[in-house]
Amino acid sequence: MGRDVIIACDFSSKDEVINFLSKFTDEKPFVKIGMELFYAAGPEIVKEIKAMGHKIFLDLKLHDIPNTVMKAMNVLSKLDVDMCNLHAAGTIAMMEAAIKGLTREDGTRPILIAVTQLTSTSEERMNEELLINKPIDEVVMHYALNAKKAGLDGVVCSPLEAAKVHNICGDDFVTVTPGVRFADGDIGDQVRVTTPAKAREIGSDYIVVGRPITQADDPVAAYRRCVAEFVG
Ligand code: C5P
Repeated sequence: MGRDVIIACDFSSKDEVINFLSKFTDEKPFVKIGMELFYAAGPEIVKEIKAMGHKIFLDLKLHDIPNTVMKAMNVLSKLDVDMCNLHAAGTIAMMEAAIKGLTREDGTRPILIAVTQLTSTSEERMNEELLINKPIDEVVMHYALNAKKAGLDGVVCSPLEAAKVHNICGDDFVTVTPGVRFADGDIGDQVRVTTPAKAREIGSDYIVVGRPITQADDPVAAYRRCVAEFVG
């Protein structure tokens, strides 16, 4: 799987996202559609962006009983998304059911990745509220291994964890990493950030970049800079 830059299109309406994407005339970036836009604009937005020629990572983080996830994934697969995700906390049985639901009649399916522990969950809260009494790093790597056992393609993780995930789960196991900022840019509310060049060095397969591109004065130039640093 080749390295690529995924733009997090965190917009709240169809008009905003279409207006943003129409600035890209020479290239068709891989885009991430999250819950806000999907719940506001519905499945039609996926079809429309797909028809514009973009690849789509649909970031809906499914987590339910295996049968429900299997059926929901089947719907997402028919939307022809290129990548989607779920919570590894749903268990190996849920992840296996997800793959079953995603797999099309011809054997193809979107890339499926797992969220391990959200970066908003601290070790303290995980220990005290969720009663998971282990170091968070160990939990993240264990969930990544569960995802691999279930047949998933990879995980969402911090670029700083990407090398370790590859060591434990193998080089082919995909790492999709947010928390990317240019060396001279604002970090905003992200805490542990990495530049696109550093993410490449550490071995991320995909970087997810939002505001450094969406809020830039020249988004196309910012996207190209990301690609130049990360893909080369
Ligand atoms: O604007 P920014 O580059 O911070 O956007 C990063 C994107 O990646 C957002 O859509 C955010 O929700 C997502 N994300 C993240 N950190 C995680 C998981 C997802 O920033 N641990």
